[in-house]
Amino acid sequence: MIDINKVRDDFPILFRKVYNKPLIYFDNAATTQKPKCVVDKIEEMYYTLNANIHRGVHYLSQQATDEHEAARVTIQKFIGAKSSNEIVFTRGTTESINLIASTYCRAFCQPDDEIIVSTMEHHSNIVPWQLQEEITGVKLRVIPINDKGELIIEEFEKLINPRTKLVSITHISNALGTINDIEEIIKIAHKNDVPVLIDAAQSVQHLPVDVQKLDCDFLVFSAHKVYGPTGIGILYGKEEWLNKLPPYHGGGEMIANVSFEKTTFNDLPYKFEAGTPDFVGSTAMAAAIDYITDIGLDNIVKYEHELLEYATEQLLKIDGLTIYGTSANKSSVVSFLVKDIHHYDMGMLLDKMGIAVRTGHHCAQPLMNRMNVDGTVRASFSFYNTKEEIDQLITGINRVVTMF
Ligand code: ALA
Repeated sequence: MIDINKVRDDFPILFRKVYNKPLIYFDNAATTQKPKCVVDKIEEMYYTLNANIHRGVHYLSQQATDEHEAARVTIQKFIGAKSSNEIVFTRGTTESINLIASTYCRAFCQPDDEIIVSTMEHHSNIVPWQLQEEITGVKLRVIPINDKGELIIEEFEKLINPRTKLVSITHISNALGTINDIEEIIKIAHKNDVPVLIDAAQSVQHLPVDVQKLDCDFLVFSAHKVYGPTGIGILYGKEEWLNKLPPYHGGGEMIANVSFEKTTFNDLPYKFEAGTPDFVGSTAMAAAIDYITDIGLDNIVKYEHELLEYATEQLLKIDGLTIYGTSANKSSVVSFLVKDIHHYDMGMLLDKMGIAVRTGHHCAQPLMNRMNVDGTVRASFSFYNTKEEIDQLITGINRVVTMF
């Protein structure tokens, strides 16, 4: 069970006011707030263990290296990877997808080979592949969705053909909250010998994810959406795949030996980690993961689902409100519009009441086009939110409606 008062005490920002009103933070799909233990870890690293890692023989460097590598193991266990060599630190989900798009297409794709994505992808799982269209000639194929915002699996099966080289798909839609049946997608893709990349940016903080059980080939996510710091994220890849891919960035640490005639590359995971690693970010990320592991993802799933159900029920009582994304299988995201009130106006006015929601296309313009809207208002909930805050949102929306 979630001890809501105890949990909220861990997040000092939740007690601040904006425009002299208590902050109600419903923009968790964009970024989550940070518990004290994460900020304390950043301070501890800079105040007591700051030294460049991997290369130093001195005490501080070795201690910082140990903490950084222990963080990698924490993340390995969090997603059930077989080996910590399969955990690559990147700058976030976007960089992880760019890394795979660039190295995978260079290594395995010929002009007119195909990469399958879906209509509900974030731009970060569309544009890196489009850049590869220009460089390697690969083509994007897109799984359609139904009006509820669910993938049409039969259409996915029809898209697979001998030119299909990879499926890259989101686990949970950032804009609609739909939880995709990735088990089924992976099964179908593997039956056709096609590897699968899972964009887990919106899922690992909401439900347990086990890469070995899923049998996905790659999985990516960001620390800042999992209560950790900004600027660091993860690329998980099966060791056999990562070994086959060429390096992405060149520089220090990713090499075995450098000469002007020939450079050889380091072992995994360092082959993909050029430059000074973000050891402060990695250790703070591990602190965030320990924090949510202590709360328990099963407790988080249950509590956030209650928030989702309550919010959906209350929102639907508002005359003229339409929810976008009505799958039975959703995470704690509600996207909506009320009559013809522009999402931006709704967001601005709610903001003045201290309520932070996101408005716009949510970096998913093709999805918005499919839903025939140019944007929505999105409220996304975390385990530190409450039903009382949702009541405030409903009151706020009703006030906006009376203004128009
Ligand atoms: N991907 C982030 C969101 O959905 C920024 O808001």
